[in-house]
Amino acid sequence: MIVCKGLTKQYKDLVALRDLTMTISQGDIFGYIGPNGAGKTTTIKILATLIKPTSGYAEICNCNVLTQPDDVKRVIGYMPDFFGVYDDMKVWEYLDFFGAAYKIDRAKRRKIIDDVLEITDLTGKKNDFVEALSRGMKQRLCLAKTLVHDPQVLLLDEPASGLDPRARIEMRELLKELRRLGKTILISSHILTELADFCNTIGILERGELLAAGEVSAIMGQMEGARKVEITIRDAARASEAHDLLTAHGGVRSVQIDGNEIVVDVDVTVDDVSFINELLLANGIKITAFRESEVDLEDIFMKITKGAVQ
Ligand SMILES: Nc1ncnc2c1ncn2[C@@H]1O[C@H](COP(=O)(O)OP(=O)(O)OP(=O)(O)O)[C@@H](O)[C@H]1O
Ligand SMILES: [Mg+2]
Repeated sequence: MIVCKGLTKQYKDLVALRDLTMTISQGDIFGYIGPNGAGKTTTIKILATLIKPTSGYAEICNCNVLTQPDDVKRVIGYMPDFFGVYDDMKVWEYLDFFGAAYKIDRAKRRKIIDDVLEITDLTGKKNDFVEALSRGMKQRLCLAKTLVHDPQVLLLDEPASGLDPRARIEMRELLKELRRLGKTILISSHILTELADFCNTIGILERGELLAAGEVSAIMGQMEGARKVEITIRDAARASEAHDLLTAHGGVRSVQIDGNEIVVDVDVTVDDVSFINELLLANGIKITAFRESEVDLEDIFMKITKGAVQ
């Protein structure tokens, strides 16, 4: 759906994006994560045909971003990271303006405007002036605008930035709704937890370089310490025995003991961690607590990036 090959963008001696190669498939919700200055906006603007890469190739829905910008614009909805100024324009006029720009005829536009206002929960604001909307509402309106021509692909540059916690949750619900509608979405953020529960794939960008990309679970799998099981055994005196038993197992990377608490670092390729329970029980070591800790996106981010920014 979205293909980038060797995309590079250079500003004088600064390489904002270096040799970006990645693919986003139909129906994917791709979280594009990176700290400030990583090159997220640069990538999104290239895909939205607003700036040209120094070198490389990109396509969206089989349309070449460089040579077929008009075709690309038809299939994408682009939400920039800022909201322009629209004095003396009402909410419906704003949407109508974009509908007209996409050459949707007047009668159809009415229905579409009502639909996108409904999706973004702005129906009650239809006749309000854009400037009088709160920031969160403006952001939703901006998203409504990207939906007017019913694009298959959405390029959303930090849609939840600057929103309060409640508005963020509302934005997240809205994005989930768009996912249900079958859109392919590229969404950028420097806040991982914001993306955690609805992205199926992620890419981690730092200083213009893609450090990791793919299914969330696969990226977690590349990581040391990605799968940990914490157990408590009844008898602390048997901890070192448990340590030796577990260490000898092929699916275990390392074992740490602290009194009767044991942390087992399990190889991510192991599907079922119940062997821990069985192994210890078979040797008469009783377990009183068993927890598998999931590594979240925030952890992945901290481990993969070194925290450097430009
Ligand atoms: N027009 C420009 N001229 C020169 N340098 C630029 C220009 N636009 C962006 N850059 C530089 O390119 C790098 C990447 O910027 P970009 O806006 O893509 O980052 P970002 O990941 O979107 O960051 P943020 O999280 O702050 O939005 C930065 O170092 C930035 O200063
Ligand atoms: Mg940006």
